Amino acid sequence: MTAERIAVAAQKGGVGKSFTSINLATGLAHASWRCLLVDADAQANSTSLFYALDDIELDLYDVVARGTDVRKVVLSTRVDGLDLLPSTLAVARLDHEMISMHRREARVFEALEPLLDEYSAIIFDLPPALNAVVISALSAATSLLVPTDASEWGLRGAKMFLEWGEDLRQARVLSADLLGILLTKFESGTRIGREVRGELYQSGLPLFDVVVPKRTGAERMIASRLVIGDEGSDEDINDAYGRLTLEVIQRVNDARTRRGRHAKG
Ligand SMILES: Nc1ncnc2c1ncn2[C@@H]1O[C@H](COP(=O)(O)OP(=O)(O)O)[C@@H](O)[C@H]1O
Ligand SMILES: [Mg+2]
Repeated sequence: MTAERIAVAAQKGGVGKSFTSINLATGLAHASWRCLLVDADAQANSTSLFYALDDIELDLYDVVARGTDVRKVVLSTRVDGLDLLPSTLAVARLDHEMISMHRREARVFEALEPLLDEYSAIIFDLPPALNAVVISALSAATSLLVPTDASEWGLRGAKMFLEWGEDLRQARVLSADLLGILLTKFESGTRIGREVRGELYQSGLPLFDVVVPKRTGAERMIASRLVIGDEGSDEDINDAYGRLTLEVIQRVNDARTRRGRHAKG
């Protein structure tokens, strides 16, 4: 089966896109879904969790802008079954160059096409932007996961992003199924946290059942370059992303069943 392509996207920064991409990709790999993590953000947060950025010679820029063979650019990681298509600062140029490219929406998909049968899932860690790279990655996606932190602006950002997604859908650029909204960095002890969660529940948006708690252990994991399941990783974070992984698998399987039905009908 061709890889499920899951875009982790939100226009607001700091809501846990990278942390979620890394740990969901790890969770899927642990569940024997061979996984490729595509770092599409020039900040290279996902990349830096597995590699020293100075050691990266080729990245997404080379694949999309220069036509470098994607197989030469993909790196393995220390997590069994998880590979990485890295990013560096060069990816900041990619957006600029893509603007003048012919059929730019299709570029990310075409760059990854040779690998589609080699992975069960491809996870896109996207920058907090609505730019050409994001549009092209969204166009390549079959599923969409939108993280939001438990803040008023986080919630507003998520809603704005979904409205923008609707415009892309109308324009037939986006066809991905919305797997769900993921509430991250949640503090049950704060009133604003509870209010945002309440508002989300009432919004009718498809929420994941699991809520990722705010833990200083998450920062420690990043500082020590740990992923879920590693010795020394935070128990609550392990638990939350373990549950997210199971929900994602369930929702992807449901979406595939629906797609199959539509394809036949
Ligand atoms: N569950 C969490 N608890 C506490 N801090 C978190 C959690 N998830 C992410 N963070 C922190 O929030 C910051 C932003 O997360 P990140 O994944 O980089 O967001 P984005 O990719 O959306 O910009 C990081 O410093 C990260 O350590
Ligand atoms: Mg990020």
